[in-house]
Amino acid sequence: MTRASGAAAAPSEAQVARRAATDRGETYFHPNLIPTHKRLPIAFTHGQGVWLYDEKGRKYIDLLAGIAVDSLGHAHPRLAGAIADQAHKLIHVSNNFHIAIQERLAEQLARLSRMDKVFFANSGAEANEAAIKLARLHGHRKGIDRPRIVVMEKAFHGRTLATLWAGGNTKIQAGFGPPVDGFVRVPLGDVAAIERALAEDPGIVAVLLEVVQGEGGVNLLAPRVMKEIEALCAANGLLLMLDEVQTGIGRTGRFLAFQHADVAPDVVTLAKGLGGGVPIGACLVAAKAVDLFGVGAHGSTFGGNPLACAAATAVLDVIEEDDLCGNARVVGQYMAERLRERLAGPGVAEVRGLGLLIGIELEQPCPDLMRHALDAGVVLSVTADKVVRLVPPLTITRDEADYAMDRLVPVIKSAARTS
Ligand SMILES: Cc1ncc(COP(=O)(O)O)c(C=O)c1O
Repeated sequence: MTRASGAAAAPSEAQVARRAATDRGETYFHPNLIPTHKRLPIAFTHGQGVWLYDEKGRKYIDLLAGIAVDSLGHAHPRLAGAIADQAHKLIHVSNNFHIAIQERLAEQLARLSRMDKVFFANSGAEANEAAIKLARLHGHRKGIDRPRIVVMEKAFHGRTLATLWAGGNTKIQAGFGPPVDGFVRVPLGDVAAIERALAEDPGIVAVLLEVVQGEGGVNLLAPRVMKEIEALCAANGLLLMLDEVQTGIGRTGRFLAFQHADVAPDVVTLAKGLGGGVPIGACLVAAKAVDLFGVGAHGSTFGGNPLACAAATAVLDVIEEDDLCGNARVVGQYMAERLRERLAGPGVAEVRGLGLLIGIELEQPCPDLMRHALDAGVVLSVTADKVVRLVPPLTITRDEADYAMDRLVPVIKSAARTS
């Protein structure tokens, strides 16, 4: 007899051991999972809006959203419905055929971003790989044999080989050399350093940067600096390539973060919030990059498949209809202001952010803070060792933000005192 669909299988011995270990608050590594992640002693079973529930039925407010992914929160009926409807029709076909829902998503993205065309991938790193390939093509078209891309210190662009070396985190590069060639690193937003690099290296063809560095510690780039970099790119025929994997899709209070600065990039990469949790990445092109990829130049088996595109169109529809960019702007600003007031004092260096991408920098590393926040019923993350990063669903209300801050502030104050 087959099991009824959706019925849970009996837990394995390893799962029983894991539950016992997590009950004791211990770290556990499942014997059949490669231990790339040191997991917190908790397993979520379901969610609703900004709320998550664990195996013991305990409730948490989610200020992490799967690391800026669950833009509509959990179990949003429009998103769940769109996924279910599409799954009943067609999950996947090859990109050898026209895919109507992919066309609809491309049109929607082009309208919202004011970019022209899109290549669909499955993750942020893949979208950035496409961008890096575009930059190299751009260079070769100009007769440059060894094209190079200017990248920023503390940048994060992914974990594939090329994106690992486009990023600036030497800890995660360790053991994976030789380095991928073709990147010139400068301090974040240092326009003079970019000018010096251009003077020294005629092979530079592009600048790649995050408008707000997420993993690097919520580091903002001023609109004025964005404009200066745009002007440098225009004057030197460089592609301006913006990694909006974390900042895109309404996160910062505009559909894309570069829209705060009113610049016109050649390439923009997206992922995270686009599918609301369903994996999808996108590399958008305009201007100098618009005609670089032709037939056969790049490809992906899964990229832009009907299921992922149905999810993403539902996410974008809800973002537009419910003005979630406006909500991110208003609630984000409210949270940052309240946190600044409530956390002013010793141990907290700064509260900064844009929309619902907020960083609280402590003066010292706070390795146990995520765990203490969980004990207080709040899910969040700490990045760059001492920056508490808040990236809740874009649907979060002011009341929910107040609830979260009432629990969060004492945890941060205590970490600031003890660190
Ligand atoms: C700015 C940025 N780019 C790229 C990536 C990589 O995305 P993915 O993990 O989907 O490959 C991330 C992930 O955190 C990111 O924040």
